[in-house]
Amino acid sequence: MLADVKSLIQEGAELTDRALEELLPSDATVPASIHGAMRHSTFAGGKRLRPVLAMQAAATITGALPRGIERLGAAIEMLHTYSLIHDDLPALDNDDLRRGKPTCHVAFGEAIAILAGDALQTRAYQVLAGLDTPPAAVVRIVGLIAEATGTVEGMIGGQVLDLESEHLKPTPQLVEAIHRAKTGALIRVSVVAGGVYAGANAEDEVRLDRFGRKAGLAFQIVDDILDMTEDSAHLGKTAGKDIATEKATWPAVFGIEQSRRDAAQLIEEAFGALAPYGSRADGLKSVARYLVERRN
Ligand code: IPE
Ligand code: IPE
Ligand code: MG
Ligand code: MG
Ligand code: MG
Repeated sequence: MLADVKSLIQEGAELTDRALEELLPSDATVPASIHGAMRHSTFAGGKRLRPVLAMQAAATITGALPRGIERLGAAIEMLHTYSLIHDDLPALDNDDLRRGKPTCHVAFGEAIAILAGDALQTRAYQVLAGLDTPPAAVVRIVGLIAEATGTVEGMIGGQVLDLESEHLKPTPQLVEAIHRAKTGALIRVSVVAGGVYAGANAEDEVRLDRFGRKAGLAFQIVDDILDMTEDSAHLGKTAGKDIATEKATWPAVFGIEQSRRDAAQLIEEAFGALAPYGSRADGLKSVARYLVERRN
């Protein structure tokens, strides 16, 4: 990883972690079990890429990080962590390792894990409602994020398609629909919401959406590749799961080499949408490049 993108991601992750620390109830707060569970999964070592994308999208609009953007990043990370807790449940992917630690249901039991996911979601919207940006932008961000995590071409809809497609022979159309929805939508909205927080106008929103859509699809293609090419210790989650459970993945349809080329090409295409911003988009572009070059 280039030194500047490394420090950019590290700084964004640190800002996000500090905000999360402040925004999540302590694990001594009653009822302690659920707060312990929320913190266990949130502070298990996530890369914080969605908050960093939101921050760099904001910087693309205004040239600097706007005050309070880390709270938007923290809320997005809570939603992402909720999606991971539920993704790992026995009824979904049935995983026992996440972010290098036992999954939430392994550590706290299934009932508390389900509720911890729910609670991260409600806390996220509470944080979004209090964002330090004009009320019209707050309402726009809340609406966009709810849509992107919902059932129609959003995260939950994608998870449904993913589960219902296990053991079927996937088509290119099916795997693209799954990936755009289950993972792409939250990545895309992280970029758009970061822009809106910073005062993006309608044209900016369209550009950031176009960029985020391609980067989001590339991100899940790489997640599928890593599942096949890296080991569990390195990933912090169980490797080789997708083949074992016959998931509809990009490599299952196109093979590994084509998948690598597709991810790289999507990122190059995504950059086209940012041309009007010149060097102001350099941070966002370097993070997007990292999305496809990462090894975990
Ligand atoms: C993993 O996301 C789950 C997917 C949506 C593919 P990340 O690779 O961003 O996981 P963390 O947050 O770093 O653990
Ligand atoms: C997870 O996709 C997508 C969401 C959590 C919404 P995966 O099932 O591929 O994620 P990993 O590989 O378990 O992290
Ligand atoms: Mg899954
Ligand atoms: Mg999974
Ligand atoms: Mg995966």
